[in-house]
Amino acid sequence: MARGSAASRRSVSVRATRLGVAAGWWLLTLGAGSHLAAPPQPTNDSRPLHDANADDLAAGKRAYVAQCALCHGMDGSGGYGPSLLVPVLARASDDTGLLRVVDQGIPNLMPGYGRANGPRRTWQLAAYVRRLIAGTPTAALSGDATRGRAVYQERGCASCHVLAGAGRAYGPDLSSIGAQRGPAYLKEALLRPGARVPDGHVVVTARPKDTRSIRGVRVSEDAFWVYVRDPGGPIHRYWKSDLEALEREAGASLMPAYGTQRTATEIDDLVAYLASLRGAR
Ligand code: HEC
Ligand code: HEC
Repeated sequence: MARGSAASRRSVSVRATRLGVAAGWWLLTLGAGSHLAAPPQPTNDSRPLHDANADDLAAGKRAYVAQCALCHGMDGSGGYGPSLLVPVLARASDDTGLLRVVDQGIPNLMPGYGRANGPRRTWQLAAYVRRLIAGTPTAALSGDATRGRAVYQERGCASCHVLAGAGRAYGPDLSSIGAQRGPAYLKEALLRPGARVPDGHVVVTARPKDTRSIRGVRVSEDAFWVYVRDPGGPIHRYWKSDLEALEREAGASLMPAYGTQRTATEIDDLVAYLASLRGAR
């Protein structure tokens, strides 16, 4: 993993200590050498995950709380990492995929835990995650996805978001947002955009010593440089020592809050529409 990218992950910590811990953990895990291409671990346990008994699930839960909750939330609803409480996990749609992710992680995104846990604990952990998912009410979303799609078009969401290749990439790509985030998260994203700002969208103000300040989205940052995208479009690159200050705004977002402008029904329709977006990744 490139040094710059490790540093920019670390700097995500500005908004919340939880992220700080997550990023610190990330670096720690890197330090432990998990990025070395580990040969795939045989899991030995070839039983289907739903065969796990109470002892397996209890052991899996302990490991989950210790190793995964930091990024995926105690209840699996997401945080730094995506929600695991979705009907189909894009990268782990079956037992084999789930075991592979828990064992080997995802390059540059998530550390692998197979080496630390060994095959048996890895299997128990995957079984616990499978159980977490199964326990999620497949929630009767109250909104109407077809109306939500119309609201999405009327409200100009495409002026900031790409969906299936169309739109402007100012905010995150929403093509598979329904596979990445649960309905509760999506609703919160519309009502209180600052509550959880994804990596790559933290708002900063760069104050150069000699030119005007720019408030925008921090695209990336390392020990020497910071890249800030102006809401107008262009990306500015600053050599940090040329800055008088680089201010990070905790809880700020350049996404407008829709709670005050939209009716509750419109919000629910939008959530139903977003939850249905499972485009290929
Ligand atoms: C350092 C933070 C971090 C930790 C710790 C972490 N994950 Fe992840 N995990 C991520 C990120 C980020 C992704 C999303 C990658 C992507 O964009 O698809 C992810 C993805 C996943 C996925 C695939 C989700 C999908 O939609 O396909 C599973 C399953 C998963 N993690 C399980 C776990 C388990 C189990 C543990 C504990 C052993 C764990 N993770 C620990 C950050 C983390
Ligand atoms: C002015 C630009 C802008 C407009 C207009 C806009 N968004 Fe956003 N949106 C953003 C930015 C920037 C983020 C990332 C920061 C954040 O999550 O607060 C974001 C984040 C999101 C997220 C959360 C993504 C995640 O992974 O956490 C969702 C969902 C979303 N927008 C949906 C919408 C919908 C639906 C509309 C139209 C009703 C809309 N946005 C209109 C800029 C915009």
